[in-house]
Amino acid sequence: MKVAVVGVTGVVGETILRVLETRPVAITSMDAFASRARTETVAFRGRDLPILAATPQALREGAYDAVFFASSDDASAELTQPSVEGGAVVIDNSATFRMTPGVPLVVPEVNPDAVRSSHRIFPVANCTAIVLTMGVAPIERTAGLRSVRVATYQAVSGAGRAGLEALAAEELSAFDDVEIEGTSPFVAPIFRNVIPQVGSFDANGDSGEERKVVEETRKILGLSDLHVAATTVRVPVRFAHSEAVFVETERETDVAELSRAFEKAPGIVFHGSDIVTPREVEGEDRVHVARLRAEGESRRHFQLWVVGDQTRKGAATNAVQILELLVERGLTGRRAALRAHAS
Ligand SMILES: NC(=O)c1ccc[n+]([C@@H]2O[C@H](COP(=O)([O-])OP(=O)(O)OC[C@H]3O[C@@H](n4cnc5c(N)ncnc54)[C@H](OP(=O)(O)O)[C@@H]3O)[C@@H](O)[C@H]2O)c1
Repeated sequence: MKVAVVGVTGVVGETILRVLETRPVAITSMDAFASRARTETVAFRGRDLPILAATPQALREGAYDAVFFASSDDASAELTQPSVEGGAVVIDNSATFRMTPGVPLVVPEVNPDAVRSSHRIFPVANCTAIVLTMGVAPIERTAGLRSVRVATYQAVSGAGRAGLEALAAEELSAFDDVEIEGTSPFVAPIFRNVIPQVGSFDANGDSGEERKVVEETRKILGLSDLHVAATTVRVPVRFAHSEAVFVETERETDVAELSRAFEKAPGIVFHGSDIVTPREVEGEDRVHVARLRAEGESRRHFQLWVVGDQTRKGAATNAVQILELLVERGLTGRRAALRAHAS
């Protein structure tokens, strides 16, 4: 299979290469793209790949079977169609196509059946929404969901390389009295702080991240009327988003029944009533669920603590899993592209 990754100099693009190295995806050639060509190379499966400039022509003429996008909304909007015209399935980490009607938003452990043979564009959902849906899907399958409320504690790497660099610069400045270089993607200092704003606010006072969590959670779970409320917060953690989640179920259940559901849920590490912290989850593909408990005597209201490395399961790993699902179903390659274009 001929594969390309657009955005290899970024946090998610680099992680896609690393995740692909750990999984048995049959790749015959890999091309690495960024906004411009570089003299440096990136490593993949023992080879040094040149970094190429991503252009519509390169992505069309590359005739790839699969193209991963880990760049920007604008780049995905410009380069997806040429990639599809060249015969590729596009697996896109940007927000560009997530809420487009008829485009599936797939979290393979949650809604693998959303995939159709006519689909060629597969957005990867917002990282916070992926971690959240992984955490609530076992509850939904057990007792249905009436509402989901979440407060998040989001890592700086969620804002890409610029987020990691801003925290590092502020740490250096505080400890070594080094002057801060570069601009921060955050609206306030992040070192020794928490910032209750991720994205810009709308007229209702909701942030961009909060709107994505609400809309995408409903779409992934296939529950368009589900009540979802979110407050998203940036914290000075390098990797892995944590989420305090409050659910109301449709039917009565209890902690024992929900615990059994979490123990057998794919992609979940269940810690019962114990704790887990983002430092322990950094670099992990699975989502961790901890502190499961009922609200008092309630058989319908429960709380849990969910942690997932948003660069892995919240982005790169979910993207690679989508490719694996498509390969398993025979939906990559020339013939699949022709069938999809004809349908
Ligand atoms: N970070 C996360 O945890 C996370 C999680 C889920 C989804 N996402 C999404 O994943 C995407 C990448 O995020 P990131 O955090 O990895 O960002 P990042 O660290 O800032 O990296 C961005 C990458 O995109 C490339 N790029 C920018 N504009 C481009 C263009 N016009 N054409 C080709 N490449 C271009 C950059 O290349 P240059 O170096 O040449 O500029 C760089 O390789 C974004 O859409 C983001 O919303 C991120």
